[in-house]
Amino acid sequence: MDYSPGLAGVPATKSKISFVDGQKGVLEYRGIPIEELAAKSTFLETAYLLLFDRLPSQSELDRFVRDTIRHRRIKYRITDLIKCLPEHGHPMDAVQAAVAALGMFYPADDVTNPDVQYWSSVRLIAKLPTIVSAFYRLRRGDEQIQPRDDLDHTSNFLYMLTGDVPDPKIAKALDVCLILHAEHTINASTFSAMVTASTLSDPYTVVSSAIGTLKGPLHGGATQGVAKMLDEIGSLDQVRPYLEKKLAAKQRIMGFGHRVYKVKDPRAKILQTIARELADHLQQQGGSALLELAQEVERVGEELLQAKGIHANVDFYSGVLYKEMGLDPDFFTTIFAMSRVAGWLAHWIEQVQDNHLFRPTQIYEGEHNRPYVPIAERG
Ligand SMILES: CC(C)(COP(=O)(O)OP(=O)(O)OC[C@H]1O[C@@H](n2cnc3c(N)ncnc32)[C@H](O)[C@@H]1OP(=O)(O)O)[C@@H](O)C(=O)NCCC(=O)NCCS
Repeated sequence: MDYSPGLAGVPATKSKISFVDGQKGVLEYRGIPIEELAAKSTFLETAYLLLFDRLPSQSELDRFVRDTIRHRRIKYRITDLIKCLPEHGHPMDAVQAAVAALGMFYPADDVTNPDVQYWSSVRLIAKLPTIVSAFYRLRRGDEQIQPRDDLDHTSNFLYMLTGDVPDPKIAKALDVCLILHAEHTINASTFSAMVTASTLSDPYTVVSSAIGTLKGPLHGGATQGVAKMLDEIGSLDQVRPYLEKKLAAKQRIMGFGHRVYKVKDPRAKILQTIARELADHLQQQGGSALLELAQEVERVGEELLQAKGIHANVDFYSGVLYKEMGLDPDFFTTIFAMSRVAGWLAHWIEQVQDNHLFRPTQIYEGEHNRPYVPIAERG
């Protein structure tokens, strides 16, 4: 059998959840192109589609939305746990710890039970924004803001960050970001979720495993890296020297490149349009020239990386958008988690329906039959 480092190109499961064509730049959730979903759906409706394999009827959607609203609050003991975490720690670690702790309050060991699957999914999707916003505020010494039942999923998240009902255009842009990040076949964090799911562990443990994997700079952490890079570049005339210096030092440009896409990431195309619309909207309110800078980074970056067929990916424009929205950069990946939780849970449900414990093999390259040398005789 051929060895494929990083399991690149090795099919590890059969799935009906999403489809990617990296050569053509196609991404579908349950067969529906993401362009359609970004234009017409909402994050919660898309989450339902991913979890249950079809678009909900109006009454199913109403119930799902109502159930998530009812389960937004977190127990005071979870808030206390978040309060005890170091304020300089990474928000993804706080979210991972809080999600793992949630599982202690809501036992869900009967993983093939449809009720357990439904209510665990509702709880995780509903509570993640509350956990994220709680750490956002508590680490600054501010009080946690309780969710507001009259606000939709995304508006309520933004409200819990600041206490202000958000500009509907910003809330809509963020909702589209959540749709576009919700699922992407077997990426690293989803694979992590599936490996944990295959041990028949509970969904809170499944999601906390995935959050740990998403944190890394080669995966979800790239969004935060994009914000840092834009800050470091600072002005249009610094774009080329900055990127050339990075590449000469054999460093990676955050928000560029993708294991699957060999053309521009279709999600980056949609987000670029949204970032433009939002920039125009914010410009009217005295917004910044951030998008001009980002587009110049994309133009020069593509030129310099052309020979390797590397283009901007979804994290490039989501990093730009979150920065436009004024969110703290180290929280960008937690927003990714609030979205990808839908995909992780869909894969969890699919995995346990026809479970095979993941146990790949390895090629051993070490030695054999080495002597156990007594400690006094070791060099
Ligand atoms: C996502 C990523 C890990 C995919 O990498 P991959 O498909 O495994 O590709 P490889 O790591 O084998 O890289 C192939 C070549 O392209 C280069 N490359 C890939 N991404 C690059 C980037 N962002 N900047 C500069 N060079 C890059 C590599 O250095 C390598 O060059 P070489 O062949 O001369 O050694 C990679 O593109 C990356 O690190 N991107 C930056 C982080 C990021 O944005 N992640 C979010 C992904 S959605």
